[in-house]
Amino acid sequence: METKIRARRTAIAAELPSAVPLMALSTGFWAFKTLAAAHELDLFSRLAGGAGTTVAELAGALGLHQRPAEMLLTGCAALGLLEKTGGRYRNTPLSEAYLVKGKPYYFGGFVQMLDKRLYPGWGRLTEALRTNRPTTWDPAAQSSIFDGEDPMMLALFWEAMHSISTMTARKLGEAVDLSHFRRLLDIGGGSGAYDIELCKQYGVLRATVFDLPHVAAIAAGKIAEAGLTDRIETAGGSFFEQLPKDHDVHLLSMILHDWDDAKNRALLRRSFEALPSGGAVVISELLVNDEKTGPAPAALMSLNMLIETEGRNYTPAEYSAWLEEAGFRHIETVWFEAPAANGVVIGRKP
Ligand SMILES: C[S@@+](CC[C@H](N)C(=O)[O-])C[C@H]1O[C@@H](n2cnc3c(N)ncnc32)[C@H](O)[C@@H]1O
Repeated sequence: METKIRARRTAIAAELPSAVPLMALSTGFWAFKTLAAAHELDLFSRLAGGAGTTVAELAGALGLHQRPAEMLLTGCAALGLLEKTGGRYRNTPLSEAYLVKGKPYYFGGFVQMLDKRLYPGWGRLTEALRTNRPTTWDPAAQSSIFDGEDPMMLALFWEAMHSISTMTARKLGEAVDLSHFRRLLDIGGGSGAYDIELCKQYGVLRATVFDLPHVAAIAAGKIAEAGLTDRIETAGGSFFEQLPKDHDVHLLSMILHDWDDAKNRALLRRSFEALPSGGAVVISELLVNDEKTGPAPAALMSLNMLIETEGRNYTPAEYSAWLEEAGFRHIETVWFEAPAANGVVIGRKP
């Protein structure tokens, strides 16, 4: 009997893969919402560099009942956001570095945008898949996510981009040698995160953040905060019209995934025309692999583009073909690991 039961168990195990990974996948939003709630309650900033907290202290400080306070602390500890020693919960190196307000690589702006803006949009993902239309804004009322000055977008979007772009810029600057360039044009440069980081890394570099006029104003504020107004300027305009000249390297970070093939190919042609001979364009994105099987961060960012834009996350092969068509040569892909990019595709103007 015993042997029969064991044989049956072995047969079932051989037939069926474990369902545990599916449980982890299905409850992914529990983990995100735990992080988002803790961030909204300012938990990690409260615990910054300090003595940590007990359940009772946190409940008292936030005016929470002890039951949810304990559940929140336990949940954050389980997710690697807090550690517990001597009965007190403290930030881990991860939350201390990235979730404390005012830290140089503060990531909280992105958490907030995901929670308040993208999470509701992703709640209608099936609708976006059926209609091939965005869900975070109304395509009947505006022509793109950037058309119009939606107050929610203004409050959250560029802070969120800054959160993921500062560390990505640092990794890009380490992975790609930019030392022979002198003037960077950051096309659709947003908050200026790349310009600030890259100018810090490369002492002779000067940069221009080129973006819509109201966004160039946001960048000007960040540049002043960083004390780099002498090396970074801003220019307001549309990259669908004309690009400023006199720059030897162009950056397109998270720009091309917003738009369709035709607009992207035209933008790359415009970049080619504006660059001098010997100049280069750097496309920084979460690149989908040429087989279109992943990696997950790029494939899921691509779905994020479905609910937000007319674009998608493209592959190195797709970018290379467009660059070649625009006239660029010596095209190469450099891979690295960062929050907002896993690599760049670089083209050089002969
Ligand atoms: C996804 S954000 C990327 C921002 C920045 N490059 C980064 O990676 O942090 C796209 C940027 O393109 C800008 N943009 C959209 N349409 C534009 C246009 N027609 N001309 C110039 N910039 C534009 C937006 O304002 C926004 O800052």
